Order: sequence, then structure tokens, then C-alpha cells
Amino acid sequence: MNQPLLNAIEGKESSRYPVWFLRQAGRYLPEYRALKEKYSFLEMCQNPKIAAEVTLQPLARFDLDAAIIFADILLPLVPLGQTLNFKKDHGPLLIPPIRTEEDFENFISKTPSLEDLNYVGEALNLVRAKLPKEKSLIGFAGAPFTVATYMIEGSGTKNFHHTKRMLFGDPSLFHKIMSLLCESTKTYLKMQAEAGADLLMLFDSWASAVSPMDYKKHILPYIKELKTEVESFGKKLIYYPGQNPQNASFITKRHCDVLHLDWHIDLNLFFNKEDQGEGLSYQGNLDPQILFAKEEDIRKQTREILYFFKEKYPKRHIFNVGHGLIPEIPISSLEKVIDEIRLFRF
Ligand code: CP3
Repeated sequence: MNQPLLNAIEGKESSRYPVWFLRQAGRYLPEYRALKEKYSFLEMCQNPKIAAEVTLQPLARFDLDAAIIFADILLPLVPLGQTLNFKKDHGPLLIPPIRTEEDFENFISKTPSLEDLNYVGEALNLVRAKLPKEKSLIGFAGAPFTVATYMIEGSGTKNFHHTKRMLFGDPSLFHKIMSLLCESTKTYLKMQAEAGADLLMLFDSWASAVSPMDYKKHILPYIKELKTEVESFGKKLIYYPGQNPQNASFITKRHCDVLHLDWHIDLNLFFNKEDQGEGLSYQGNLDPQILFAKEEDIRKQTREILYFFKEKYPKRHIFNVGHGLIPEIPISSLEKVIDEIRLFRF
């Protein structure tokens, strides 16, 4: 398959510099906001035709190399037994929160029927049929720890108190939850691959809540397990280890094929070490808020990233933001970034 994203994973020549954006479908697009007037976020995710339409919206507007399926990392918590709600201005709510052995036994299904998530597969199918073959379709899931934080806290959190209390106070329950999430994620990712995803991404957005030592000990082994699984069905894996550069520095080819670098990472410092994951490719790491800057500054920061990888890891970089696009960014700024990439001789 001659897709610029897949070529960058193999270090192969491409005619285009691969680029896509985290959260490229969403509220910053007027065509998304128009649909959002009629449907709730969950309704949009759960209706394959609408999810497919939203997935393709940014590709109709911008010269991108990949689509990421419109879904959410929290959807798999529903077949596991929690109720998921997105309350306006409150973010997600998971009911009931799972904080004790009794909660886990009473409310969580140990053999979840992931067929409940077939609507994601149907949406992937619809998108793959419409997407030009050189453009990659990315399926995704939350990594076990990041999803566990929502299962345990019952919502987003600033200090991860209940999660860390369980990790340190009742490690056996914590690992039961992690193992269950790891197993269900395997099934979910495989279903997405079979439904048409060309490659897969794991989001570990909150892995920086724990110390690097605890990350290595309690979180990373599950990522290795998921990478082995994804490899067994022949797909490539992108992994986002969150904001902490030290966590990112532990990642090797045994954990993923592409390491997504957050914008908190200084590229020069990060790559200034001997043991650099042999064979890894990289994705990132423009600060999405640079999109509020003047055109010349947006272009300059874009070029700096392009030149860095041209020199350091030619043909092994996928351009992206370091973390998701936010709703207020001007669309014209994103066009400038893409234009600068298309002007670049690599
Ligand atoms: O990137 C894409 O375009 C694909 C879609 C996607 C969404 N969520 C859609 C979404 C992806 C990849 C995600 C992942 C996700 N979801 C993460 C990890 C990625 C990251 O940013 O680190 C997390 C932590 C979640 C959980 C989640 N979903 C939260 C905390 C929220 C509320 C915050 C907010 O922006 O309102 C969501 C809702 C959500 N997921 C929206 C979208 C487009 C906003 C829904 C809306 O109000 O329109």
C-alpha cells in the first residue's frame, strides 16, 4: 500500500510529507458545529453514517494524508458496564465510578460483548470505501491506564487521586482493571483493523499522572502486550505516551512503530541521547496554540520541526500537533501549516 503515513513507518520514500492532526474533526469546523446542533456527541459517534461524514469533513477542506475515525476513547467503557454521558462544560461522566473490589465485581462485565461497538466498525467501513487509497484511515483506542482513570474517577480529574490511591493502596485491583482493559482493547483494535483501519493509535494522554518509575513498572508492560497483539494481525501502531518527556524516552520498537511526541518535548534535548529507539518513527509535535500566532511565526515553527526531522530522521516523521486541536483555532492558521509543509523540499 503506497500511503505516505505507512511509508514513514518503514522509512521509505514518499511523494508527499505525511500530515494529519489530532482532533482534526471537531468544534473548530463550522460544518461540525452545524451537525452538533442536531445531534449530541454520542449520537454522532454511534451513528455510522454521521461518524463517517464527520471523519471526512477535515479531508474535504484540507490537504491531509490521513483520516482518524470519529469516535472516543471512552466508548468501550459502555459494554464494560458503565453509563457514559457528556455533560455540557463538564466533560465525560462515567457512572458508577469503580473504586473498590465490590464495585468491580458488581458493575463490571468480565466478558464484555464488544459487538456493542460494531457501529465504529461500520463507520470505518464507510470511510474506507470513500477515502482515496493513498490516504490512511486511523483507528484508535485509549491505552489501558488512561481509560482506567476515567473508569475509576468517574470523570476527568486534575490530581488522579482515586486512581493513584488504588494503584498504591490496592495494586491487585488496579492490575485487574488494567488487564481487563488491555484484553478488551485487543479485541476492539482487531475489530477496527478488520473493518478497514490501515493503522491504529493508542492514546495514553494521562500517563504523565504517575512518576516515570511507576509508568515503566505499571503502565508500559500493557503497551508492549498491545503492540505484540497489533503486530500479530499485521498492523502498525502509533502510541501517545502523554506529556512527560521521560516517559516518552522509555519507548522503543517493542512498544509501537510510531512514537507521538507531545509539544512539551524539546526535540533537541529529547534526541540528544545514545539509546534512541532503533527503527522507530515519530509523529508531532507542533504546539496547537501556535495557531493563534501571526502567519510568519506559524510558518517558522512548522519549518523548524520539518528541518529538525529532515536532518535527524529523514523519511521517518509524520507531521502533527503535539496534542489535540482546540475549538477556538482559526481554520486559516491550519491552512498555513499545511501550505508550509507542501512547500518544503524533503
Ligand atoms: O482526533 C479526532 O479527530 C478523532 C476523534 C477523537 C475524539 N476524542 C473526539 C471527541 C479522539 C481521538 C478522541 C480521544 C480522546 N477522548 C482522548 C485522548 C486524546 C487526547 O486529547 O489526549 C481523551 C482523553 C478523550 C476523552 C474526552 N472526549 C474528553 C475529555 C472530552 C471532553 C472534552 C471536550 O473537548 O469537550 C471528549 C469529547 C470529545 N471527543 C469531543 C470530540 C470531538 C468534543 C465533543 C463535542 O462537544 O463536540
